[in-house]
Amino acid sequence: MERGEVVVTERELIPFSRPYRSAKELGNLAAVLASDHSHGDGPFTASASSRLREITGAGQVLLTTSATHALEMTTSLLGIGVGDEVILPSFTFPSAADAVARTGARCVFVDIDQATGSIDPAQVLEAIGPATRAISIMHYGGMPADLPSLTSIARDHGLPLIEDNAHGLGVPGLGTAGVLAVQSFHDTKNVHSGEGGALLINDFALVERAEIMREKGTNRSQFLRGQIDKYSWVEWGSSYLPSELNAAVLDSQLAEFDEIQRLRHAVWNRYSSELAEWADARGVVLMDPPGGIHAAHLFYLLLPDWSMQTEFIDSLRAQGVQATFHYVPLDTSAAGQRYGRTLRPLGQSEDFSRRLVRLPLWAGMPESFVSRVIDATRSFVPLR
Ligand SMILES: Cc1ncc(COP(=O)(O)O)c(C=O)c1O
Repeated sequence: MERGEVVVTERELIPFSRPYRSAKELGNLAAVLASDHSHGDGPFTASASSRLREITGAGQVLLTTSATHALEMTTSLLGIGVGDEVILPSFTFPSAADAVARTGARCVFVDIDQATGSIDPAQVLEAIGPATRAISIMHYGGMPADLPSLTSIARDHGLPLIEDNAHGLGVPGLGTAGVLAVQSFHDTKNVHSGEGGALLINDFALVERAEIMREKGTNRSQFLRGQIDKYSWVEWGSSYLPSELNAAVLDSQLAEFDEIQRLRHAVWNRYSSELAEWADARGVVLMDPPGGIHAAHLFYLLLPDWSMQTEFIDSLRAQGVQATFHYVPLDTSAAGQRYGRTLRPLGQSEDFSRRLVRLPLWAGMPESFVSRVIDATRSFVPLR
């Protein structure tokens, strides 16, 4: 049996996602529990942060309790507030919008480019107005958004770029194009710590403020480095740092990052090649990352019409395969309508969301499971 492979019974339901278990995580956890340091910023936090700097190339990395919290930190660090607007894609996870709404600023939702599922730079350009304070982007499935266009738009308008890289850990260039970027280590992600995240800081001027914000508004980080005699409350903050228990799990997974990626890409590659002919014959569009660049975080297909989405998911479920849709466009959601606006209906996002189905994908997924997903997919006959 290969490392990471799971023992299964033949007709077990194939889950959409299964958290990775690394070889060293129990040992790491035991080491934390045996030590006197299970609160944040211990040796495993230092090690995981340094591995993340190496993997992403980011200037500085601060572990956080989630990507949602790291996103909260981005808008606070940039001083965004009441009367301001932030441009973001409608097809993304709500946390990017939460980070804007909680400051009192308004979300301006724009459409995506269906080739990558990520924000369309032409729409960003059109949405920029006098109240715009930042552009927040997301790399869907770790397929890079159009960074050359987005960075030049941001530069020309003097606007900071925020990257939500929850899906794209390890894809070259992702996490370093923005002033600030975030990673997620929720257990549905390629690398996880149960719940967790990281803030990537590429403008060193923001590091000190970020450290303070993450440590309850105190300069405790400077105190722990011996830079000051006492720490005190210096600015608004919260408690955004994870415990060493989470960092210990994260560090063990980051140590196996290449192996995790190899296992995930193997599943992705089988879907891509073995479903191509079926998809072509039925007008189904398979995920086709430009330049072949992606993080093997997810594999999706776009059905020819909206009515087939539920039918397809139900048909896979009947064959023991758990497949799922993805984001409901934020501009159509109750909170999106309360906290945001759009320039026009966002047809690409709605169409993408209503045609998209994701297939199960996890590191160590047995070959027999991948074959069952492929067979179940190929057997789909739409009701007409
Ligand atoms: C693109 C994206 N950003 C942010 C998040 C939130 O991550 P977390 O659960 O770490 O807060 C998710 C969660 O799935 C996500 O898909």
